[in-house]
Amino acid sequence: MYGLVNKAIEDLAISAGGEETWQRIKDEAGVDVVAFVSMDAYDDDLTYRLVGAASRVLGMPAEEILKSFGRHWVLYTAREGYGPLLERAGSSLGEFLANLDALHTRVGLTMPALRPPSFQVDVVDDATFLVRYYSERGGLSPMVVGLLEGVGKRFGHEVVVTHSAHRSEVLDHDEFLLRIVGEVSLEAVAEAVQPA
Ligand code: HEM
Repeated sequence: MYGLVNKAIEDLAISAGGEETWQRIKDEAGVDVVAFVSMDAYDDDLTYRLVGAASRVLGMPAEEILKSFGRHWVLYTAREGYGPLLERAGSSLGEFLANLDALHTRVGLTMPALRPPSFQVDVVDDATFLVRYYSERGGLSPMVVGLLEGVGKRFGHEVVVTHSAHRSEVLDHDEFLLRIVGEVSLEAVAEAVQPA
């Protein structure tokens, strides 16, 4: 995956435990890259190793690391210069979810080796979306839970995300139900639209 992803893992690790923790995670993963370059493509294996090592060093299940990573990603990309791209993807949760593929297509214009996921979104009722997630990679569905939570938060919603169907021999994708709970917080909306 592109270095941007590994840098986001680094950012999350440093905010959780400082530079020393990040160094321990890299050592545990057997990664000797001094500084990741956002726009360089790295082996997927390296990213998976960092997640596994973070899980051991921080004493948290890998699923929890991936979930936190997903929540962090929405904030991290906004901070790393992708704020305008995120804004163009939609001004409501539904519009944004429907534009996830278009968003990655735009990302791919500057990252030609990108192997993006794909999402199909259906409205179930006025507070629930069904999100279908297609990927050529495995094991990242907990990250999607965190991503969808992060996207909900971006729009000022409190959301509950459940992994409702798992990819298998008979299903070529994962499914998630994203349910908006409670009222929309106007304060959170104001926060969400602040420039990064
Ligand atoms: C401007 C914001 C975003 C940028 C710059 C971005 C960029 C990327 C990049 C660089 C990768 C790694 C793929 C590769 O290197 O081949 C990736 C993967 C991924 N992105 Fe995004 N992304 C953004 C927003 C989102 C959002 C909001 C979601 C929410 C669902 C999302 C879902 C994913 C998932 C699930 C993957 C894992 C790849 C896989 O499943 O195979 N991304 N994205």
